[in-house]
Parts: sequence; structure tokens; C-alpha cells
Amino acid sequence: MVSRPAGQRIVLITGASRGIGAETARILAARGDHVIVNYREKMRRAKLIADEIVAAGGSASVAGADIADADSARGLIESIVQEFGRLDVLVLNASGGLERNAAPGYAMEINRDAQTRLVDLALPHMPSGSRIVFVTSHQAHFHGRKPVPADYEPIAASKRAGEDALRAMIPTLTARGVTLHTVSGDMIDGTIIVQLLERRNPDAVAARRDTSPLPTIAEFATAVAEATTVPAESGHTTYIGGPDYLTPA
Ligand SMILES: NC(=O)c1ccc[n+]([C@@H]2O[C@H](COP(=O)([O-])OP(=O)(O)OC[C@H]3O[C@@H](n4cnc5c(N)ncnc54)[C@H](OP(=O)(O)O)[C@@H]3O)[C@@H](O)[C@H]2O)c1
Repeated sequence: MVSRPAGQRIVLITGASRGIGAETARILAARGDHVIVNYREKMRRAKLIADEIVAAGGSASVAGADIADADSARGLIESIVQEFGRLDVLVLNASGGLERNAAPGYAMEINRDAQTRLVDLALPHMPSGSRIVFVTSHQAHFHGRKPVPADYEPIAASKRAGEDALRAMIPTLTARGVTLHTVSGDMIDGTIIVQLLERRNPDAVAARRDTSPLPTIAEFATAVAEATTVPAESGHTTYIGGPDYLTPA
């Protein structure tokens, strides 16, 4: 086990090879954390993020794992425990279901089952005071209360189910001194997902832009990074963008 600077937190960010996860990794590393950049397929992209962080004076490593696969997820946590001895922050950022050829049940597997499994696996290695941050979208967080574009419906439903399942774990987390924080955002400008949605359903994205400017990746990732430290009761939610979601219909 490599010795680390005193007080340096060990942070795992799932799906950090691009987009919001990658930006969150940059921000947290710049604040002194050791960030573990998890990726599923894009090893080169993940390594580039970690190299860039290290070149800027930060501390980062990469860990390939498909969190939707139970053995792969177990291997990910085992490798972290072996190398670092503990995990101080778990950022549940990786998400899925919009991929071409995704099986019908995949959204629920990755957005609900994989999230709770990772928490189950990580929790025994998270010291008291550790934090879990769940990253979600307003369309998912407000699922059932606000309309959702048809092609995003299964993802929204599964991410909401994931959030509910994580919230149901709060008593178990509390017993170990670990808190859960959710960060929910409107469509985030510049992400691949929004580019994809814009191609498939330009009206849906245009409607969001008409409501208010879409938050940027930097704004949203900053909120995710803040959520790893901000004092808040377990179960707290931070909202970024989409003021219309936050006012009653
Ligand atoms: N984009 C938005 O407008 C928006 C708005 C609000 C909230 N959010 C939330 O923000 C989070 C990140 O969104 P994003 O748009 O930045 O995502 P993204 O660009 O689609 O990036 C997905 C990341 O997740 C990884 N990943 C996918 N499936 C995985 C799996 N099974 N195991 C491990 N890693 C996996 C990918 O790794 P590989 O590339 O290596 O496969 C990639 O690093 C999501 O939770 C999303 O719901 C997004």
C-alpha cells in the first residue's frame, strides 16, 4: 500500500473518462484529493484525464470496471481496498441506458442495481465521515411529477428508482457515519447526452433552452465536487439549473 499525504481523501468517481465525471475528477484533484478515474471501455481517455491531473500537480489513478457487472464491480472495490486501504468519497456518476443496442432491462441494471451494489461493496471500507454523492438529472429526480421526453423515460424511471433505493439505504449508511448527497441537474450543455438528445429530439432540448440557459459541465461538476464536502443532512439534494422544475406546477 502506497503512503499518502496526511488528510488526502481517496475518491472514486464512476464514469469519469469524460463529461461531468471527468470534470469532477479535475476539480477534486485540484483540491487535494486522490481521484480514481473509473471507466468502462475508454481506457485511453481515462488515462488522459489522469495524466492531465498528475501533470497539473494532482493525484489520480485509473480503474477500469463495468459497474453494471457484479464481478467487475467487486473487483473494482477490492483493488481500491488493496491499494488504498479505504474509500472516503464515492461519486455515483456513471449512468446508462441510452446506448444503441442497450437491452431493455439495462437502464434499471445500471441506474438502480449497480448503484446500490457498489454502495454495498464499498460501505465496509468507508470510514465514518465518508460521503456518497449520487448524480442525477431533473428529468429523473422529478420523474412522475414533471413530463419527460419519451426516449428518456426509461432512463428517468430507472435513475429515480436508483435514487429511491439509495435513499432507502440511509439508515444503514447513518449507522456507519456515512452520508448521502444527491446532485440533480437540468440538461447540461456540452455533454454527449444532450448532443445525442438534440439529434433525436431537438424540440425537447430547445424547450429546455427556452426556459433558461442550460448549466455548463463546469457548473454542474463544481456542484458535484462541493457535494463531497458541504455540511448537509444525509439525503440532501442540490439543484443546478432548471428553475421551472423547482416551482410547483
Ligand atoms: N448530460 C446531461 O445533460 C446530464 C444532466 C443531468 C445529470 N446528468 C448526470 O450526470 C452523470 C454523467 O453524465 P454525462 O453526460 O457526463 O455522462 P457520459 O458523457 O455519458 O459519460 C458516461 C461515463 O460513464 C461511463 N460508463 C458508462 N457505463 C458504465 C458502466 N457500466 N460502468 C462504468 N462506467 C460506465 C463511461 O465510460 P466509458 O466511456 O469508458 O464507457 C463514461 O465515462 C450521469 O449520472 C447523468 O445522469 C447528466
